[in-house]
Amino acid sequence: MGFPGTGKVWMNGALVEWKDANIHVASHVVHYGSGVFEGARCYDTKNGPACFRLDEHVRRLMESARIYRMDPPYDAAVIRQAILDTILANDFKACYIRPIVYRGYEALGVNPFPCPVDVAIILWEWTTMFTAESLEQGLDVKVSTWTRIAPNTLPALAKSVSNYANSQLIKMEALVEGYSEAIALDHNGFLSEGSGQNLFLVRDGALYTPPTASSVLGGITRDSVMTIARDLGFEVREQVLPREMLYLADEAFFAGTAVEVTPIRSVDKIKVGGGARGPITEAIQSRFFDIVRGESPDTHGWLSFVRSPAATGPAKSGAAKSR
Ligand SMILES: Cc1ncc(COP(=O)(O)O)c(C=O)c1O
Repeated sequence: MGFPGTGKVWMNGALVEWKDANIHVASHVVHYGSGVFEGARCYDTKNGPACFRLDEHVRRLMESARIYRMDPPYDAAVIRQAILDTILANDFKACYIRPIVYRGYEALGVNPFPCPVDVAIILWEWTTMFTAESLEQGLDVKVSTWTRIAPNTLPALAKSVSNYANSQLIKMEALVEGYSEAIALDHNGFLSEGSGQNLFLVRDGALYTPPTASSVLGGITRDSVMTIARDLGFEVREQVLPREMLYLADEAFFAGTAVEVTPIRSVDKIKVGGGARGPITEAIQSRFFDIVRGESPDTHGWLSFVRSPAATGPAKSGAAKSR
């Protein structure tokens, strides 16, 4: 996903040109991973651009910051509005949305407190993470030799920059061994998640996913998938899952903002079910895409239209809480 290198970036309350959206190399985040971020999407619907579950993404951003004792100078309403304003300023119909809250430039040392908490919102036009065929045919994945972060090392519920050092090891190992992705086990050896997506299995008509205690990010797509599955009449079980469930599942898929709903067709070279996208995966995937594209009624209020009055909150995006 190369960048076009143009467009506007929101930095601490101002829109700046892409080429000017720079930070100093001595910024704390560069050395100590002191940043938390979000990945959300704006979809092109027949009623105009709409962000999927924007409030939940902004809430998780603020919660990630809270876990790391960061007090962003802008509140949730301001950041939400800034995201909508930046989409409008770039005139995007559909885009990936990457807000980041990070410790900036002041002093270097493990102690982050002397450094300012800065906020930026980066957007770019992006379609699928894997190929379009993967959405139909599924991915070949492996179980990673890397263990997912343990709960008493790094908090998995915080979407922190530092968690993605672990994710990179998981992803790189998968790629160099010829797989598209990998599934990590938690510190107890139970199923956790992929490098940047949650895991779902289907067996005997019920949907299974590891609980947040298995070191997974509380995925917003994960929550959407569980809601859609229940809407469609499937039983959903959030429970600790042993590795071998991967080999016994009838169907498996990943869920996340980037991967959306992507089937898994093999794990460790063992076919999942018949080795193709299964019917329950397809039903959930199809409902998911219908909702995000505005083709199904938005019964859960998941879409925030960029241009509708309902999408604009009272706050002005440039207004700082304090600085
Ligand atoms: C480690 C990890 N797990 C799960 C997810 C899926 O979360 P969401 O559906 O909120 O994008 C992501 C992506 O943000 C992630 O990075």
